[in-house]
Amino acid sequence: MGLTPEHWASLRRQAQLWSGKRLRDVVAAETGRAGTCALEVGPIYANFARQRIDAAATRELFGLARQAGVPAALRRLFDGAQVNTSEQRPALHTALRSGLGEGVLAHEARRLALDARGQMDRLHQAVLDSGVTDVVNVGIGGSDLGPRLAVDALRDFHDGRLRVHFLSNVDGSAAQLLLSGLDPARTAAILVSKSFGTQETLLNGGILRDWMSGSERLYAVSANLERTLAFGIPGERVLPMWDWVGGRYSLWSAVGFALQLAIGRDHFEDMLGGAARMDQHALETPIESNLAIWHALMGVWNRNALGHASHAILPYDERLALLPAYLQQLVMESLGKCVRTDGTPVLGATVPVLWGGAGTNAQHSFFQALHQGTDPVPADFIGVVRPAHAYAESHQVLLANLLAQSQALANGAVAEDAQKAYPGDRPSSLFLLDELTPHAFGALLAMYEHSVYVQSVLWGINAFDQWGVELGKQIAGELLPAVADVRVEAADPVTRALLARINSRR
Ligand code: F6P
Repeated sequence: MGLTPEHWASLRRQAQLWSGKRLRDVVAAETGRAGTCALEVGPIYANFARQRIDAAATRELFGLARQAGVPAALRRLFDGAQVNTSEQRPALHTALRSGLGEGVLAHEARRLALDARGQMDRLHQAVLDSGVTDVVNVGIGGSDLGPRLAVDALRDFHDGRLRVHFLSNVDGSAAQLLLSGLDPARTAAILVSKSFGTQETLLNGGILRDWMSGSERLYAVSANLERTLAFGIPGERVLPMWDWVGGRYSLWSAVGFALQLAIGRDHFEDMLGGAARMDQHALETPIESNLAIWHALMGVWNRNALGHASHAILPYDERLALLPAYLQQLVMESLGKCVRTDGTPVLGATVPVLWGGAGTNAQHSFFQALHQGTDPVPADFIGVVRPAHAYAESHQVLLANLLAQSQALANGAVAEDAQKAYPGDRPSSLFLLDELTPHAFGALLAMYEHSVYVQSVLWGINAFDQWGVELGKQIAGELLPAVADVRVEAADPVTRALLARINSRR
């Protein structure tokens, strides 16, 4: 059941040993720390030298990971064990990109995944043959954020044959804005919903169907063929999903169809290859040099030993501007739990609030608080060495700022005027990709996925369910009649008063 009370006590002891130490002094004292805290995996270079942890505490963390059974837990994930305990399901997203899992379930998942790749290729051709110029991905959460991020991040790899758009929010102004710029006769829509029961997606899908005057150019990605058929989309235009892939882990499946339409089959395969490279690394590399485990351990250290309640994602690349939003779902929907898999309360804090934004824009908005606010915020900086544009000076400035910010946060600066001093000692990790290719992008996302899983193992929680989103959905369903009809009263007194206010202003 993850870390024990003794493990937590040892984390706190290690943190106390650190107290009073300055990050810049530790870096100076530990010869070669910049190298010993660096890892390189395929297209990703990672440097953890600016985390507020020394070599002895890092070794202790490795020991905790070993005692918590992290390597065996990774094996269980790949092999299709029922890691999603509350829904009695495996989480076999790794089978979508690598054949490393052993056992019947993992092999069958791999077979289905490869079969689905063939179906994606056939439907891809069908969409091209239909003469459409634009495709709208209709989905929300995991059926939106992954493809949306990937289409944006891999913009330099678009083949230009189709323009891809996204419609997620149930807010009608999103549909209005999008559809006003499209021609219904030259547009196709993909309704992406594992359950095909998500209110926002069905409502937006209905708007699209009416706007297109029929469902001929409607496609779906779903695990529920009955519902897609009832909606008017026949089986030959439906790509599969399965209950063994969680929405936020599903970019690698047919949920990524919009991405394939944008970048083509070969680049999509490259992205899967990058994720497979990280899968192999995460599964087969000893703890001490395992990037996903390092990342997870630094997360647990910052949260539980140092007590930091939020974490910033800071991509220094405009193409990764949507990464914080994507990771918010991946990390916070997976790890936002206060009860362990056996139903008992967790032994300490779990997920920090994840947020962020692209540099250098973010420097001119919230970085003030990162440097001088009362609450240090650990950060992941992500940079790309070789740009995909010809503005060399812009890129030099971008890289200089990336390096400067992580240095300034760690080292701080003294000043006579206390208001102008920088406390420093603010931890961060730095990740560098040589280029933002589909391969590197796939590896980066897979690193975060595996880190999330490792953290869930350490905390003893289920990374693959999301019961916390259900209550609000249920109450919204109950309230809809009262919103739609003034004669229906809401039961809750505050909600009733709010509705009365709304009704008085309609
Ligand atoms: O927000 C809850 C959630 O279930 C997410 O986990 C999921 O990614 C999203 O809704 C969309 O679900 P579906 O793909 O079934 O429409």
